[in-house]
Amino acid sequence: MKSPRSASICTDENTIPEKWRIASPIDQRQYLCDGTIREWTGPLQDVRSPVCEVICGTVQRKLIGRYPLLSEEPVSEVLHAACRAYDSGRGAWPTMSVEERIRHVEAFAYRMKEERDEVVRLLMWEIGKALPDAEKEFDRTVDYIRDTIDALKDLDRLSSRFVIHQGVIGQIRRAPLGVVLCMGPFNYPLNETFTTLIPALIMGNPVIFKPPKLGVLLHQPLLKAFRDCFPRGVISTVYGKGQKIISPLMKSGGIDVLAFIGSSRVADILKKQHPKPHRLRCVLGLEAKNAGIVLKDADPDQAVKECVQGALSFNGQRCTALKILFVHREIVDAFLASFGKAVGELKAGMPWETGVQITPLPEPDKTEYLTELIDDAIAGGARVVNPGGGSVDHTFMSPAIVYPVERGMRLYSEEQFGPVIPVASFSDIEEPMNYIIQSDYGQQVSLFGSDPEAIADLIDPLVNQVCRVNINSQCQRGPDTFPFTGRKDSAEGTLSVSDALRVFTIRTLVAAKETDANRRIIKSIVTERRSRFLSTDFIL
Ligand code: G3H
Repeated sequence: MKSPRSASICTDENTIPEKWRIASPIDQRQYLCDGTIREWTGPLQDVRSPVCEVICGTVQRKLIGRYPLLSEEPVSEVLHAACRAYDSGRGAWPTMSVEERIRHVEAFAYRMKEERDEVVRLLMWEIGKALPDAEKEFDRTVDYIRDTIDALKDLDRLSSRFVIHQGVIGQIRRAPLGVVLCMGPFNYPLNETFTTLIPALIMGNPVIFKPPKLGVLLHQPLLKAFRDCFPRGVISTVYGKGQKIISPLMKSGGIDVLAFIGSSRVADILKKQHPKPHRLRCVLGLEAKNAGIVLKDADPDQAVKECVQGALSFNGQRCTALKILFVHREIVDAFLASFGKAVGELKAGMPWETGVQITPLPEPDKTEYLTELIDDAIAGGARVVNPGGGSVDHTFMSPAIVYPVERGMRLYSEEQFGPVIPVASFSDIEEPMNYIIQSDYGQQVSLFGSDPEAIADLIDPLVNQVCRVNINSQCQRGPDTFPFTGRKDSAEGTLSVSDALRVFTIRTLVAAKETDANRRIIKSIVTERRSRFLSTDFIL
């Protein structure tokens, strides 16, 4: 592997393809409130890229822009605008027909596509995501919107009929819940924010969204499209320090649904701040420490390939990343040799460089934190088994394979969320099984092996511990039509394309005893199209 050096961490502007350069910092002073883009004249937060430059002989993260640090006042206005848009369920948006809401979202998707290059450029600069992954994040998000629209049409078609049972006529649909606060994570700042924001919106809920701390500027190119495509107050943005702006929102009691992807520590604080805990719905994507279990009859090449991808795509900064590997003792030496070789072949560099897989890390002090984890494991008797593994150059860290990792070491239980791969060996399958049972997390697991009987014996207990068992493949969220969730401290609620439509709504029905008078009323409402809820209109 190319060892990251100062020469590469401090990129020469002229080597960056012109299309992806940032000539001068982007001053974002705007936020979206009540259908207008407002200018913020208060303090701003500097945005520094994980990509560095040399200034007066010192290496520094490049300043690429600024965004508003809103105070409580504008945030309270945003909340009032969202509450007005909902108007206790009487607003134009929550009462609009599904077909019309779909048209608004389609218009937004059309406008969003025009901003692809700008969003991709900022994904690379703000969070260091490699170009193909940044493009994939954008395209996957547009596909997600299209799939959401299709899923909603299906859902609506199923509800466009009456059911008659035990002398009662009913029509059952899904109705919105109220104002939704959406907060996504820095590793998928666009995609994971939109996988809650879009379903919440399309189902009739006004949305306030706060971009993650890292990955803010990339939302700016979409502000005008949001303003133009939705009625006022239906979508708003807030920026700033969580404690200053999110806590007052939660404490106000005006938030009906919290859609948050981040740490369980922050989720717990936010939930507790809401004055009506039973009224607040939560959709949460939290920590994970997914294990890969490599059995002794695993296809070595396939296991290595999937474990490299699973542990190191986007430098291991995925909630679904393989964050610990358990390898059978009889094959662990051979596995480590080929795993180390494959990791050594990964190319490190700048996000826009062709074929690059290891890029600078955006979180402040991240390399220091990861180094602490490695040092802790070394102090406990483990070592870094790949040459150059764990070496740091400012925001770069060469991936480190750490072996043997055992209970008691921080890497055994802490979610590292970076390019460090702890490996443990086992001779009895009960060892990795107990690890998963005792873990605080329960998102996914990967099993590598070839004996159907041995794999079947593991599947049955594991599906009751995690929410996806992957056979001979890395852990992942996609395809987005599959359910994505977790047990224990890993998640609350399920987020597939169709499940997301459900979590932001509640089943509501209109029912009447089957009398002639009631039949006449219902018939008149339906034929005269007097209600958008009580309706047999079928979306074609
Ligand atoms: O960070 C967590 C993401 O949901 C993972 O998605 O498996 O598609 O990378 P992914």
